[in-house]
Amino acid sequence: MTIATLADVLQPALRDGYAVAGLVTLGWEDMRAYVAAAEAENVPVILQAGPSCRAHTPLPVLGAMFRHLAENASVPVVAHLDHGYTFDECKEALDSGFTSLMFDGSRLPLEENIAQTKAIADMAHAAGISCEGEIGFVGYSGGEASAGTDPAEAARFATGTGVDAMAVSAGNVHLQENKEGGLDEPRIRAIEQLTDVPLVIHGGSGVPLEQRRALARGSAICKFNVGTELRMAFGAALRDAVNSDPARFDRVTILRDTHDPLVAATRRVLAGFKGENQC
Ligand code: 13P
Repeated sequence: MTIATLADVLQPALRDGYAVAGLVTLGWEDMRAYVAAAEAENVPVILQAGPSCRAHTPLPVLGAMFRHLAENASVPVVAHLDHGYTFDECKEALDSGFTSLMFDGSRLPLEENIAQTKAIADMAHAAGISCEGEIGFVGYSGGEASAGTDPAEAARFATGTGVDAMAVSAGNVHLQENKEGGLDEPRIRAIEQLTDVPLVIHGGSGVPLEQRRALARGSAICKFNVGTELRMAFGAALRDAVNSDPARFDRVTILRDTHDPLVAATRRVLAGFKGENQC
């Protein structure tokens, strides 16, 4: 049994200089490949159920799938709710066996974000699980613009909420299909001067590989969320599998061909977050 909380995997990462991947899942095929890749790299992994995953599959089903994988894995696995927007949604995830709740109050005014996130963090801690909050706003490629995290507000958010991890906005943008962006390192340094809570970077797909590696080892960033990059790898593998034989119609047979390419792509992502002593 290797089910873990967010604090269980991020505190050692902060201490020892590496980061843990928060991988966006959409279903059984990708979550299973992510755990296989984490076992092959011998690193912990955070399985994340975000809004589009939850629109497709009910939370109690996702919780059971995450826990089944965790209980049979040789590495720590976190069952994480990504971008929960309401108390009830977070409560349902807790009741469904999740071990980590992200409450996203980043569109709210500061005091309201602190108050609502604190309520989720208190609920999570009372149940022995973890909570991630977001301060500043991480925008979306082709959509809403980012609002960079103010370091003093981040410090106030950390002490006011008691979160185990804090998502920040420092040049990162969700849904980027290339790595031409890059993080605002002076802003990250200013934030980590004022708080000792592990930091989270959403929109990890858009962060160049060298910057991921350097910040995983040498900053308070302990969690990078990666979705788009692996959805693209899965999509390409699925397209190849479908096109390889027009006579095939059984989806389990087709999906089987996506497993090895997705494990390989995930291993490359996970390897990029390792510390000096994990290689
Ligand atoms: P990307 O899809 O841009 O990697 O972002 C994932 C994410 O931040 C999920 O919360």
